[in-house]
Amino acid sequence: MGKRMWVAVLLGVLMAVVAAGGAFASGAARAKDGILLVAFGTSEPDARGAIDRVVEFTKKTFPDREVRLAYTSNIIRRKILKEQNIAMDTPAMALSKMQDEGFQAVTVQSLHIIAGEEYDQLAEVVRGFGAIRGKYGIARLSIGAPLLDTFEDYERVVELLKNRYGKYANNKGETVVLMGHGTHHRGNASYSQLQLMLDDANLPFVVGSVEGFPELDQVKRRLEHMKATKVTLVPFMVVAGDHAKNDMADAEDPESWLSVLKKEGYAVEAVLQGLGDGDDGLAEIFADHIREASAEE
Ligand code: CO
Repeated sequence: MGKRMWVAVLLGVLMAVVAAGGAFASGAARAKDGILLVAFGTSEPDARGAIDRVVEFTKKTFPDREVRLAYTSNIIRRKILKEQNIAMDTPAMALSKMQDEGFQAVTVQSLHIIAGEEYDQLAEVVRGFGAIRGKYGIARLSIGAPLLDTFEDYERVVELLKNRYGKYANNKGETVVLMGHGTHHRGNASYSQLQLMLDDANLPFVVGSVEGFPELDQVKRRLEHMKATKVTLVPFMVVAGDHAKNDMADAEDPESWLSVLKKEGYAVEAVLQGLGDGDDGLAEIFADHIREASAEE
């Protein structure tokens, strides 16, 4: 390497150092209280608005805190990186960055519906980071519960569902079927708890799930018992993404809930709107969970 070349390399290194210093300086000027919102994620670009809406509301509600977003689904993270060139952090990556940037307090808010496997694994990450003392730790770190946690949460969700979808079940025979995700995890019981409370509120709403209990078979039996004539399908998920579009509402797929229920003789309509869409009702519940978790820090 000639003398000239060395000068060029040295100059390059120097410039990189200056740039890094600049980034550090602007980082240091920021508020050191943060909120990390953690969703399962979605690979559907047009469904993403539901998550963004929660992020925007959280920013507005907590103007003194920096709000960031991470996804728990590695499948979705890899898919959107490959197909949409969007790099989304895991919770561990996001916390590690926030730690390095000097955040002193971070509330991690789960945007999951139930305390299932995704929530458990997020809690595991938060516990792990929380155990770190010294210069690599975050002094105050807490985690906010998913949507359905306390009895009050269920009451608020029943109210939200009633306000949004009650209009589809005003007349005799009209019902609303909520399609949740479902899981093998014990947290799946949350769907049954919600059903009991919807029943108690006298709402002709039926809860089902794609991967857990109750399944479509149970939903069908319930509709029969209710003497339903019309069904409005609604995703009981933050986003109206892949499951909502395909498992719930795909008219071309004979196995979709829409096709199966139509074949049973019901008049079926599908609403492709996630719980995060439409209004800030969902984000408001999460904001309260953030407040509760922050109080523990
Ligand atoms: Co799924």
